Amino acid sequence: MSAIRICALDELGQDEALKVEVGDVAIAIVKDSSGTVHAIGDTCTHGDISLSEGFVEGETLECWAHGSKFSLLTGKPLSLPAYEPVPVYRVTIVDGDVYVDPTDTIAV
Ligand code: FES
Repeated sequence: MSAIRICALDELGQDEALKVEVGDVAIAIVKDSSGTVHAIGDTCTHGDISLSEGFVEGETLECWAHGSKFSLLTGKPLSLPAYEPVPVYRVTIVDGDVYVDPTDTIAV
């Protein structure tokens, strides 16, 4: 699969997460406070919780259920109870649009 257009860059709020489904892959798209866009697996590895319903803080996305913070750069949980990483997908910005390839993980 090649990169899929997700949305316009302007549609993403700063420090907000947007859940998208690409095929059967649920992905959280996050624009951090520096304006960088990240794409990580949306499902918390501790439970069946959508990480995009959580909180963006710096370069982390926190699961609202039990507080594990996942790195937007590596997908690794930086705090318990989750201990398994979520995938991180490559994001490209072309002409002001955000593209993600769900088959192109850059960290697992
Ligand atoms: S379900 Fe996410 S930390 Fe428990």
